[in-house]
Amino acid sequence: MAKITAGVATSHVPAIGAAMDLGKIAEPYWRPLFAGYEPSRRWMAEHTPDVVVLVYNDHATAFTPDFIPTFAIGCAPSFAPADEGWGPRPVPLVQGHPELASHIAQAVIQSDFDLTIVNRMDVDHGLTVPLSLLFGSCSAWPCRVIPFAVNVVQYPPPSGQRCYDLGRALRRAVESFDATLNVQIWGTGGMSHQLQGPRAGLINQAFDQRFLDLMVDDPEGLAQVPHIEYLREAGSEGIELVMWLIMRGALDLKVREVRRFYHVPASNTAVGHLILENA
Ligand code: DHB
Ligand code: FE
Repeated sequence: MAKITAGVATSHVPAIGAAMDLGKIAEPYWRPLFAGYEPSRRWMAEHTPDVVVLVYNDHATAFTPDFIPTFAIGCAPSFAPADEGWGPRPVPLVQGHPELASHIAQAVIQSDFDLTIVNRMDVDHGLTVPLSLLFGSCSAWPCRVIPFAVNVVQYPPPSGQRCYDLGRALRRAVESFDATLNVQIWGTGGMSHQLQGPRAGLINQAFDQRFLDLMVDDPEGLAQVPHIEYLREAGSEGIELVMWLIMRGALDLKVREVRRFYHVPASNTAVGHLILENA
């Protein structure tokens, strides 16, 4: 049987990818951030999964304002890094897992969560930056990746509770796949940030630290937090954090915190990171 062995949460700030691609990781601005991910890269090298279900949001790259699915699963054999205006990032092609992705689509849709099935898609910084952070620079990603896109770009995004429940359905789907596979689920985006308007640059460290605590110890309470609180406390783009709840819903209620890192700022964003295992 396939098994979800760990959950990873991480921010996906595009400037982090650019710092890696342009050889700036040793600069004083970036060094503390990359140092914070070093232990996680070592852990990941020892716990490399067969497949990552990578929950992220597309930033009007693959899905234009013409077409915005709430939840979309990538069932293609591969996904190319997207051109977000400066050419595609020089990172490997993402190899998918069409069999597991199609099984998840079947199981999750039949559990009453409507997913959009995507058979061709380029993937933006929301997906490639987390891979770069956890796997470093490499000529091929060390595992398959199933892109799982969530709309947090255009109101209304899904509620925290729906994301948490979807995580539980994803876990049941993975665990009913008849193959011996080590699967991780990653939730990306956040933490507090606002990129636009009069509050651009907003960071709320107290909110972020409490969010990290609740992710570990009280995910059911955290799932109750309404959108307006994310908007007020974590800024207009802080709503990306609901994607972490999909990851958390796919784990046990009690988890072991393997790793936690928090750093301010990267670009205009608070960076947060967790690795959780079932206790
Ligand atoms: C930025 C973009 C993002 O999508 C994000 O999650 C954080 C920061 C940015 O443009 O700086
Ligand atoms: Fe983002």
